[in-house]
Amino acid sequence: MSETQVRKILVTGGAGFIGANFIYYMLEKHPDVRLVNLDALTYAGNLENLKEIEGHPNYRFVRGRIQDRGLLEKIIREEEIEAVVNFAAESHVDRSIVGPEVFVETNVLGTLALLDEALKAGVRRFLQVSTDEVYGSLGAEGSFTESTSLAPNSPYSASKAGADFLARAYHRTHGFPALITRSSNNYGPYQFPEKLIPLMILNALQDKELPVYGDGMNVRDWIHVEDHCSALAAVLFRGKPGEVYNIGAGCEKTNLEIVHSILDILDKPRSLIRFVQDRPGHDRRYAIDSSNIRCHPGWSPSWSFEKGIVHTVEWYLAHRPWWERIINGDYRKYYETMYAGRFSG
Ligand code: NAD
Ligand code: DAU
Repeated sequence: MSETQVRKILVTGGAGFIGANFIYYMLEKHPDVRLVNLDALTYAGNLENLKEIEGHPNYRFVRGRIQDRGLLEKIIREEEIEAVVNFAAESHVDRSIVGPEVFVETNVLGTLALLDEALKAGVRRFLQVSTDEVYGSLGAEGSFTESTSLAPNSPYSASKAGADFLARAYHRTHGFPALITRSSNNYGPYQFPEKLIPLMILNALQDKELPVYGDGMNVRDWIHVEDHCSALAAVLFRGKPGEVYNIGAGCEKTNLEIVHSILDILDKPRSLIRFVQDRPGHDRRYAIDSSNIRCHPGWSPSWSFEKGIVHTVEWYLAHRPWWERIINGDYRKYYETMYAGRFSG
């Protein structure tokens, strides 16, 4: 299968969870690429995540927002950027419920600015990293395919759907080579502690209660972040412009199953579990049909959940200073404010 030769790549949001994993993955597996990482370093962006490649000759970091058109124009011209991979986003559903504006500013207007500047500069590939949450919620049966209608239920997923529609429109209107990926829930190293898996690992390690929303029977379809990164590379180099690719590892679990696994690995009691007030508009079940990407451009996951979750727990155990700096900073206030009502509700 023919590969598109793009070597100078602008990665946005590369100081976050998936972006940082993607940068490590690309520098290791594709040593001929040059990566420029544009990241605003919001609460979720952390240069500690990229410490291992400081000074790497094929890597440059630029601090800035994807809404800054002047900066985008300068980077794309100076670095002769051939492809863009857009991870930059506000990514947490709970935060979008209490403060949706920044989700529209970054996820919708930021993506629009990136699309515009990339179009003007004649960029040859634009990968919009999207999410299965744009499809909404499933009942007990079935799975999301790329032709499932979009029905986002949170301000976060609505803003991601807005960005997907813009990428699609730029392809249809201008023939712009945009590709969209929609992955299921990621887990692995460097995930910010606000998300289910790291939150539960860190609370259990500190013998704090584990706040499970509602009845704990909501289902997510889990993929190890490294498998997501290999899928993104496959789409970037071999995907078809204008296409949408679902990415998933076929691993549905209830939230309660996830929490039980973590407690078992850490040898902590189930009495730490506390059922708390549910998330408003909480999607019940996600499940991804990823047959499209598996067939063309050709991809399959390598991590089993059993291996991946043990590896992830071990990563957090081995990186205590990384997460202690986070939980002792602004995150503490976030946790107290966000969860106070839930525990008492
Ligand atoms: P994250 O919150 O860990 O990281 C987001 C990064 O974007 C941070 O480094 C932040 O500083 C940066 N950023 C935020 N606003 C910015 C702006 N205006 N300009 C430049 N940089 C900005 O998120 P993540 O979990 O790594 O998700 C990355 C992308 O993947 C997002 O687009 C998200 O929607 C998508 N996604 C995530 C998952 C998941 O399970 N985490 C699944 C599917 C898709
Ligand atoms: O599906 C892909 C999406 O996965 C990404 O697009 C998002 O960026 C990412 O944040 C994630 O969204 P979720 O809402 O599914 O992830 P979160 O980790 O917030 O929650 C996972 C499940 O766990 C969900 O059913 C809510 C539940 N939960 C979450 C938290 C933080 C709890 O029960 N307790 C909690 O404290």
